[in-house]
Amino acid sequence: MPEQNIFQPDSKLSRSSYISSIQQYEELYKLSIDHPEKFWNNVVKQFHWETPHADSKSFMSYNFDISKGPISIKWMEGASTNICYNLLDRNIKNGHGDKIAFYWEGNHPEDYTRFTYRKLLEEVCRFANVLKMHGVNKGDRVAIYMPMIMETPIAMLACSRIGAIHSIVFAGFSSDSLAERMKDCKAKVLITSDGAWRGEKLLHLKQICDHALEKAQELGHHVETCIVVKHIHRVTAPKPELIEDFSVEMRDDRDFWWNDEMEEAEPSCYPEWTSAEDPLFMLYTSGSTGKPKGVLHTTGGYLLYSSTTFKLVFDYKPGDVYWCTADIGWITGHTYVVYGPLANAATSVMFEGTPFYPDNDRFWQVIDKYKVTQFYTAPTAIRSLMTFGDEPALKHNLDSLKILGSVGEPINPEAWLWYYKIIGKEKCSIVDTFWQTETGGHVITPLPGCTPMKPGSASFPFFGVKPMLLDEGGKEIQGEGEGYLVFSQPWPGMMRTVYNDHKRFEQTYFSKFPGYYCTGDGAKRDKDGYLWITGRIDDMLNVSGHLMSTAEVEAVLTEHSRVSEAAVVSRPHPVKGECLYCFITPNQNEPFDKQLIDELKVLVRERIGPFAQPDAIQHAPGLPKTRSGKIMRRILRKVAVNDRDVGDISTLADENIVEILFNNRPSK
Ligand code: PRX
Repeated sequence: MPEQNIFQPDSKLSRSSYISSIQQYEELYKLSIDHPEKFWNNVVKQFHWETPHADSKSFMSYNFDISKGPISIKWMEGASTNICYNLLDRNIKNGHGDKIAFYWEGNHPEDYTRFTYRKLLEEVCRFANVLKMHGVNKGDRVAIYMPMIMETPIAMLACSRIGAIHSIVFAGFSSDSLAERMKDCKAKVLITSDGAWRGEKLLHLKQICDHALEKAQELGHHVETCIVVKHIHRVTAPKPELIEDFSVEMRDDRDFWWNDEMEEAEPSCYPEWTSAEDPLFMLYTSGSTGKPKGVLHTTGGYLLYSSTTFKLVFDYKPGDVYWCTADIGWITGHTYVVYGPLANAATSVMFEGTPFYPDNDRFWQVIDKYKVTQFYTAPTAIRSLMTFGDEPALKHNLDSLKILGSVGEPINPEAWLWYYKIIGKEKCSIVDTFWQTETGGHVITPLPGCTPMKPGSASFPFFGVKPMLLDEGGKEIQGEGEGYLVFSQPWPGMMRTVYNDHKRFEQTYFSKFPGYYCTGDGAKRDKDGYLWITGRIDDMLNVSGHLMSTAEVEAVLTEHSRVSEAAVVSRPHPVKGECLYCFITPNQNEPFDKQLIDELKVLVRERIGPFAQPDAIQHAPGLPKTRSGKIMRRILRKVAVNDRDVGDISTLADENIVEILFNNRPSK
């Protein structure tokens, strides 16, 4: 079993937290599972519903069992609302108009600004009118490829104000990835910026978009309009010489400057009332077959779930300053930079830059600057910051912190302890939040001031979430044990379908164990009932918190004209958590040389994005296959870590290949 040390929550924090004891958690948890309507109704009442849901029966209905008919999940059917209205207008009506919604901290420490709720609403309305002028209607898809600037939440909320569906593509994806996603969702409009600084690097976002728009056209989809934020010249350039020849090409019939459009737009816009089950947004996530899936979230349930998890998991109180470092391009940014905090009238920091610019103490400096109370980041960031020692953190006053969050991958006990001791001074609760793009919000997580913490364990389910561990045969594992992590009933914020592909939704998540949503992760339960996520059990890997599939990378590698076959496995990495280790079989008579390795690295960067670049590419004259032709990845994982204890290889068609692969490992 993993580390069993238990850390009790700080007693001062316990006294003030919403959920202050395990007993209170257990009572509320039971209510949320046995009587979801009673539990969620208290949350429902906090928001504005233009039409309330009809009756108890329509509060929640679902089918998780494919043998009984199509999978369906519905919350608050018949109700109508507008999420943007609830996040902005409602808060302003409640007296929060002059409250800061966001402190925006740019890449350069000299660039910063702030947005009140009132100002945010005005800008959102203007942009909603811009979208309408460009013919965007309810249900249309709007692609967003943006850096972490204020225009990003403005664009998202403008979509939700008029009932359009936003589809954000993380601005680290390549033009090919963006094109594929825009084509899949048939985006009408693309919103981007001229460029962005990340540390001292200048990213040419509009140029990437130009290629993506062309590529989408080649794939048969025409994006009508591209709206471009002028950002680069508004902010301090870390390397002025890089912008000397920075230029942006604007096509008259398609491209518009954000500012020009906003100048003419009215600052008010009546919200479109949408049904609780109308789509709010889609967000692509990697699929184990290679093609990304457009995970679709709807309105009413997502509002309930994002707001409640934010409030309770971060124990957010008026006056707190919360900071989530995730990029809005990922689900963490959607739920915990934008929707959850704004639904609670929270004040947040939004950060454009990197932890390493201008120096390795930037995170700690920003916490000190804004007196951040809740800080939420990823284990990979913690691990890389740990490598600079304690001094960069000790230089700053971090006393304002109460709660520290972790997300995206398992946090190793060493990183947990450093976070707890050096950053949290042993007085902060650490919330190791397990969830997925698909789950919409936290599903397994400690609660601050309440849950005794075990480093590395996400601990217990959030309200309304019923986890179970199943063995390979689908039998439930009670008590201590390890198995597939599944959920047996829906919570309001879970995904409803894969955009335009409900069959794939059913196949991916509900076919392995009929009656259950299958996460694709394994988990252990210890003797105290704590859950420990053990990682993906499918062919997915998690590099610095970015989930990708081995199939997706293999498909790119085999595109190279000199490559016959490719297999990709994950190898543990001290900072990234996991990294890509690739086996390449070149075509017959083709050499395996440095040129090929370099070209393959470039290809992966181009097709997927820089974060997917392999750490190791090795020559594989053949791959270890069974007689039926299935690649035995288990053996490849052993080769990747140079562990010769490969176990039984008798089912291989050619056992000799194993020795050859070990001998071919790259020297470093
Ligand atoms: O494997 C789990 C891992 O990240 C996957 C979900 O990735 P994604 O959809 O990109 O969403 C990431 C942000 C929510 C999960 O299937 N994962 C996420 N959080 C944790 C985690 N693994 C262990 N512990 C966590 N706290």
